[in-house]
Amino acid sequence: MTDSAQPWWTGAVGYQAYIRSFADTTGSGVGDLRGIHDHLDHLEWLGVDAVWINPFNPSPGHDHGYDVSNYVDVDPQHGTLADFDDLVAEATRRDIRIIVDTVPNHTSNEHAWFEAAVADPTGPFRDYYIWRDPGPDGGPPNNWVSHFGGPAWTFEPESGQYYCHLFLPEQPDLNWRNPAVADEFESILRFWFERGASGFRIDVAHGCVKDPELRDNPQIRPIDESMSPRAIFDSYDHLHDLDQDDNVHIFRRWNTVAAEYDAVLIGEIGADRVERASRYVTNGDALHQLFFLRSTWAEWVPSDWVEAITSMQTITTTGVSWALSCHDRPRAVTRFVNDGVDTARAQKRSFSLTTLFMALGGMPFLYQGEALGLSDGIVDPSSISDPLAARHPEWADEGRDGCRTPMPWDGSANNGFSTGTPWLRSEPRTGAETVAGQLADPEALIHRYRDLVAFRHGSPQLWSGEAATVAIGGEALAIERPNSFAVSNLGSEAATVDLPDGDWILGFSSCGGSAIQPASGTARVGAETTHLYIR
Ligand code: GLC
Repeated sequence: MTDSAQPWWTGAVGYQAYIRSFADTTGSGVGDLRGIHDHLDHLEWLGVDAVWINPFNPSPGHDHGYDVSNYVDVDPQHGTLADFDDLVAEATRRDIRIIVDTVPNHTSNEHAWFEAAVADPTGPFRDYYIWRDPGPDGGPPNNWVSHFGGPAWTFEPESGQYYCHLFLPEQPDLNWRNPAVADEFESILRFWFERGASGFRIDVAHGCVKDPELRDNPQIRPIDESMSPRAIFDSYDHLHDLDQDDNVHIFRRWNTVAAEYDAVLIGEIGADRVERASRYVTNGDALHQLFFLRSTWAEWVPSDWVEAITSMQTITTTGVSWALSCHDRPRAVTRFVNDGVDTARAQKRSFSLTTLFMALGGMPFLYQGEALGLSDGIVDPSSISDPLAARHPEWADEGRDGCRTPMPWDGSANNGFSTGTPWLRSEPRTGAETVAGQLADPEALIHRYRDLVAFRHGSPQLWSGEAATVAIGGEALAIERPNSFAVSNLGSEAATVDLPDGDWILGFSSCGGSAIQPASGTARVGAETTHLYIR
């Protein structure tokens, strides 16, 4: 599929499997590696090239796996190292790569490094973490706040010092200014590469290095008690706790390791300014791809999408793994319902943007259930378990359980996810929302997604060759390459767009299928629709 001079992820399509909710083979109610193994048929049918699996390392689970207590093993609830090996072997046989999620910004407070750091403040592990004496008033050393509410500092009474955590107190931040931490992570990367991982998704990649003086962040708007953790977090300019200039150096070293294994590094980059985010990928010597988080939280504001995509494309045409949905924010179909718009129209909007992503240079990702057109699941209130919601019931609507409900495979109990009680109980999905239901219906959305992925694979001119990106008015944009022209009209009225000179074929339309039609001169592009022209 790809030119051998290009890395394997060029032109590829990724899939995110949120392991807890993908498929449970043991009846425990929690998804496992074998569940992914057993559904490779489906992923192969869909045509994806790589599967990013959310963390499956041993973890006390305060943040559902993002609090890792051992980076080089598998949590028993998700399986064993042998299951990982089997998964890699079977996926490789089907030409599907496995991408492991790693969490370098913080560990679990139950990681042996942190336990040693607490037990022996003069020992070598103390400096694996960020410790400071109390501030002048006896409180935290600076004004940093946690993403999940409260200060980013917790007092440790034995030593009389605070430790830093940008997330939960159970997720102490590592000190990336200590070279020993960098050495540890090189070993962790090698461990999984040696076992056959083809890359890493890097959690909070923008957050690892902190300001050496731990200066206060400037506050940019008033804060009051009634605000949610997220609103409080967003009330600071994160000048000193996130995205430090020297943070990118971490990934230069990782890049040389990944090169030995032909592996991809995809960073979660929470810097919302395109020029800051793109620094990680533009020189080609650090990350290969970034997840630009704005596309996973943005609602349906056509001009914002046009601005976000065109401005990012101006800086990098190959470095972004575009994704509409993930395990941290409401699914796109839920976000795109507004002003009386129904689910079907939100699905159309979502598919239109995904169609455009297939004409961009990076490796786009589909979140599990996205190809079914799923909205967020409806969670049983007694089952709420995301720390954002469970620890702040008054802000339950910021919780992330809705996008994490079990994958609906079929119409059986628990939609075929588990024979036990799912860890996250939610309203059953209808038959038409399940994989089995949609496979049986040739008109169902899943077939459109499959056709789209196949169209990308069969049309390398969509994602290779120089790309010029132009905004057309405020609500449409086009990506022009030597032999392809992608045009997205995100506005609510049809638009007439000039095609570049010559004869074209409308190879794929997000609205109306993949019937091949000749085109030249001008094209009429329906509302909220993307057309992919090739020649
Ligand atoms: C990332 C993960 C999120 C997690 C957080 C802390 O943003 O995607 O799920 O809670 O990092 O590790």
